Amino acid sequence: MTTRVAIFISGGGSNMQKLVESMTGAHPARPCLVLSNVETAGGLEIASAAGIPTVAVSHKPFAGDRAAFEAALTEAIAPHAPDLICLAGFMRKLTAGFVEPWAGRMLNIHPSLLPKYRGLDTHARALAAGDALHGCTVHEVTPELDDGPILGQATVPIAPGDTPETLAARVLTMEHRLYPEVLRRFVAGEGLPVRLAA
Ligand code: GRF
Repeated sequence: MTTRVAIFISGGGSNMQKLVESMTGAHPARPCLVLSNVETAGGLEIASAAGIPTVAVSHKPFAGDRAAFEAALTEAIAPHAPDLICLAGFMRKLTAGFVEPWAGRMLNIHPSLLPKYRGLDTHARALAAGDALHGCTVHEVTPELDDGPILGQATVPIAPGDTPETLAARVLTMEHRLYPEVLRRFVAGEGLPVRLAA
């Protein structure tokens, strides 16, 4: 049985693109939907060009009513019957009301070596801390932000002279390797956590 994967994005969707490109041939999953909370997200065009159904559900009309926004998300994804949700550059916090029914069936990629640097500005924070090693993590999504069981990590050495931008670019390259590998093994029920090094 093929696992149907919905991918949530907010922007360019480079992680989404790598996930979509990986789900071919003998891969046990296929993308069934790309959803964005930003109607102009570049990733929506990329997904459409790849023949994947897309939908935009803006959070703006709900003006902070998270439950109403999440009800709209649930309504939008229902016709596509996903088995699994991959958050990939999705920049909205999801409440327990949305996350708990997806327990064990929702993944996220975060640009730090969790549990270090939950939240935003992870590259700048790693640089400010003088860390030698940084990276990215794929984890199961739980109601606590960036806190669920770790399914894979990729490490990226911090180089002299790195800026948040140069570091982010190297981390993103590893995200593109890590997320597809974690997804494949997660769906196949094999060999987790994934450990990669730049
Ligand atoms: C990436 O840095 C990722 O770590 C974070 O969102 C950023 C943009 O991702 N979650 P994408 O290019 O939209 O996949």
